[in-house]
Amino acid sequence: MEIKVFGVVGAGQMGNGIAQVAAQSGLEVIMFDISDEACKKGLGVIEKNFSKSVSKGKLTEDEKNKFMAGIKISSDLSSLKDADFVVEAAVEREDLKFKVFKDLDEICRKEIILATNTSSIPIGRIAAQTKRPEKIIGMHFMNPVPVMKLVEIIRGLATDQETFDTTISLIEKFGKTPAESSDFPGFIANRILIPMLNEAVFALYHGVGTKEAIDSAMKLGMNHPMGPLALADLIGLDTCLAIMETLYKGFGDSKYRPCPLLRKYVEAGWLGRKTGRGFYEYN
Ligand code: CAA
Repeated sequence: MEIKVFGVVGAGQMGNGIAQVAAQSGLEVIMFDISDEACKKGLGVIEKNFSKSVSKGKLTEDEKNKFMAGIKISSDLSSLKDADFVVEAAVEREDLKFKVFKDLDEICRKEIILATNTSSIPIGRIAAQTKRPEKIIGMHFMNPVPVMKLVEIIRGLATDQETFDTTISLIEKFGKTPAESSDFPGFIANRILIPMLNEAVFALYHGVGTKEAIDSAMKLGMNHPMGPLALADLIGLDTCLAIMETLYKGFGDSKYRPCPLLRKYVEAGWLGRKTGRGFYEYN
């Protein structure tokens, strides 16, 4: 089936990034979030990113206007009834994602693929919320979505081959590279990355080094583009904690226990860049 209309659930940092790359690849996009304010904020980020590309000469003003015109926003989930493919990029909370999938299952045509950008929740558990488990797949983008080349693709037990092939084609249409992962908590990327970030928080908690020293060690010593604490702030400390909890619960192994300092920051509302304060302060 030809995909013309691409639905995105969530206009936050992952959702608006996904909507941007979909629009840039020539698809019509419907981006949903629960409030008009959240939708407009997400659209504003996309506009800003396109404007930056125009000022760098990577995009013409006409292209920018065409891509922007291709994105519709809506705070009514039922507007996704016209979508030919939907990806969910809501907050990383199981109860919330389950509800979204139950609702999408009612709203979207029965042959439509419903993908999830979950960073750690098993696809099979999400698929079990719907009457179309063969059409449910993991499509995990990396942050910042417009820049990062990787998209993890994860089949649930019931995912059919057509769903897999269609999703691969879409990832390639977006100019990204797929990497297939089995359906285990955290998949590949976050199973390796997030415990490393958690360990960096432990190093800070135990006073092994200052945040600057810890970040410099990994940035300059391992050639990582940014230090682990700065990266945790970029991802969102609430998301990092949620992923550690999923790994801890999913494997029942104490090596995945979240650092108490990470929990403390999240409880204080210091979630990283998005709230202006995490391990670092942001304007
Ligand atoms: N949105 C869109 N574009 C962005 C961006 C954003 N949020 N942030 C940076 N960019 C663009 C810049 O405009 C710039 O574009 P040009 O090359 O066209 O000029 C380019 O990215 C490089 O940016 P900068 O020069 O400002 O800065 P940089 O070279 O330090 O790169 C970075 C910034 C891309 C974020 C880089 O530091 C990096 O790769 N960091 C690691 C990111 C990472 O590990 N992401 C994975 C997180 S894990 C995840 O996402 C999975 C999960 O489930 C938690």
